[in-house]
Amino acid sequence: MSRSFEFATSRSILVSRGAVGDELTARMATLECRRPMIITDAGVIKAGLLSNTLSMFARASVETVVFSEVVADPSDAVILQAVEQARRAKADLVIGFGGGSSMDAAKLVALLAGSDERLETVYGVGMVKGKRLPLFLVPTTSGTGSEVTPIAIVTTGAGEKKGVVSATLLPDLAILDATLTVGLPTHVTAATGIDAMVHATEAYTSKRLKNPISDCLAREAMRLLSQNIHQACRQGDNLTARENMLIGACLAGMAFANAPVAAVHALAYPVGARFHVPHGLSNALVLAPVLRFNIPLPVPSTPSSAELLARPQKRTKPRRQTGL
Ligand SMILES: NC(=O)c1ccc[n+]([C@@H]2O[C@H](COP(=O)([O-])OP(=O)(O)OC[C@H]3O[C@@H](n4cnc5c(N)ncnc54)[C@H](O)[C@@H]3O)[C@@H](O)[C@H]2O)c1
Ligand SMILES: [Fe+2]
Repeated sequence: MSRSFEFATSRSILVSRGAVGDELTARMATLECRRPMIITDAGVIKAGLLSNTLSMFARASVETVVFSEVVADPSDAVILQAVEQARRAKADLVIGFGGGSSMDAAKLVALLAGSDERLETVYGVGMVKGKRLPLFLVPTTSGTGSEVTPIAIVTTGAGEKKGVVSATLLPDLAILDATLTVGLPTHVTAATGIDAMVHATEAYTSKRLKNPISDCLAREAMRLLSQNIHQACRQGDNLTARENMLIGACLAGMAFANAPVAAVHALAYPVGARFHVPHGLSNALVLAPVLRFNIPLPVPSTPSSAELLARPQKRTKPRRQTGL
């Protein structure tokens, strides 16, 4: 375990059922922002998750641009298209509303539209130099924990997944509203829930940067996720199970943002980038082999030669070969 470590997370996390429209309107006014850009995807629009927020913005006479072209595992091309639109609209706030794909895209739009940075030069750890626009994130899946991580994952034109990692990408505000997740289809609930469980597992077992705060968060995340994932899959409208999943995923995100994920994610990313398998599912596919590989083998204690000599010599019947 690291002796000295730093723990960083989002500035503010609000957990409140059914309050997203009111809260976004109020917080936007506090920051004196008037031209928000919402980054989302077609599935979120189709599920009607934005309707309430959009009518509240309209009532407050706030001009809103909605970019809903994000796709799963967002590409660099889609992100640059959104940045272009944000610049043209002179957006003064970016709101990522959706799963990890929409939130990751929103982080980069806030950065690239708020500075002179270019996407090609910010890939990697600590490469961001510029400032970003104010950023709010609203998760609608319980998986990535992107609302509390300094990470954005992009699928490049070359079919590779690359990450931008910088504290600048941590949002000003994350809103966890479980009512947004009740309509999440069972297969998405399962895949995203497994992603969160892998975040907790990898943060807890990480050799690099393992620290007591992440450990504590990972354990509580695992408790919430493992006790609620079946219920959330079987009875999607169970708000308690949904909220526990959302908080569990957020805690797992906080844990792995500071004690990073490892081999499971490293092997899952190329599978996702190449075959467009949902992120949680690609993690699930490689989880068992990696855990098996990582389990320390018991070291047999070697008896001393004196002990061996002192043992009575037993005559044993030859064993039958079983082939196992
Ligand atoms: N930033 C990070 O720290 C981090 C961590 C892990 C993964 N990721 C990235 O996040 C992405 C995956 O995100 P994800 O697993 O949340 O999936 P996603 O954002 O790709 O969404 C999956 C699908 O679920 C739909 N959906 C989302 N919310 C819904 C709701 N409430 N009701 C109905 N449908 C809904 C979407 O429309 C989409 O079709 C990948 O690109 C992955 O690399 C980022
Ligand atoms: Fe993940």
